[in-house]
Amino acid sequence: MDTTASPTPFSPPPSRWVARFAPLVRQGGPVLDVACGSGRHTRLFAGLGHPVTAIDRTLAGVADLAGGSSPELIEADLEDGSPWPLPADRRFAAVVVTNYLHRPLFPRLLASLEPGGVLIYETFGQGNERFGKPSSPAFLLAPGELLDRVGHQLQVVAFEQGVTDFPRRAVVQRLCAVADPAPWPLPPNRAEG
Ligand SMILES: C[S@@+](CC[C@H](N)C(=O)[O-])C[C@H]1O[C@@H](n2cnc3c(N)ncnc32)[C@H](O)[C@@H]1O
Repeated sequence: MDTTASPTPFSPPPSRWVARFAPLVRQGGPVLDVACGSGRHTRLFAGLGHPVTAIDRTLAGVADLAGGSSPELIEADLEDGSPWPLPADRRFAAVVVTNYLHRPLFPRLLASLEPGGVLIYETFGQGNERFGKPSSPAFLLAPGELLDRVGHQLQVVAFEQGVTDFPRRAVVQRLCAVADPAPWPLPPNRAEG
């Protein structure tokens, strides 16, 4: 037994929502796991053959994945006003965010999708304070908020909100949406002739 190897941190199973929509992601396309935590979705997509970039303010949960060329692990605080930790033109076939909410990031998340890229989002909603953490309004989506934030810019594939009992009783909101492969052309402006 190799006693020098670092132990594999506990990683819960992937979200059923994320696993359900993983097949929508372009085969072999790069995936961004935002606030990756233990890396359960980094591991899911890496196992499906995707190059994954995982960001978190602490990489302790994915320490066992460090050292290779993939996944790309980036330690960065996404809320302290620092610049986005990736080149501005970096695009992904999927952006995955679960159990994390920092509203100012939404424009950046959308801009990080390649044409046809998939946003898979799942986090807690208002009312969750009845069941436990998170309970601060800053971390709880208002009813329909994910739709309001991305529905005008992406094609919504699926949306759910409400009380769940799995993996524990909680109020959650979930969305899967796709960036248009090509932007809808605007009709010519008559005034422009
Ligand atoms: C509840 S965990 C969710 C982890 C993972 N997405 C999942 O669903 O398993 C929230 C994660 O957000 C990360 N996080 C919180 N604040 C952050 C910040 N300011 N910048 C980057 N990551 C942050 C935490 O370190 C933690 O890993």
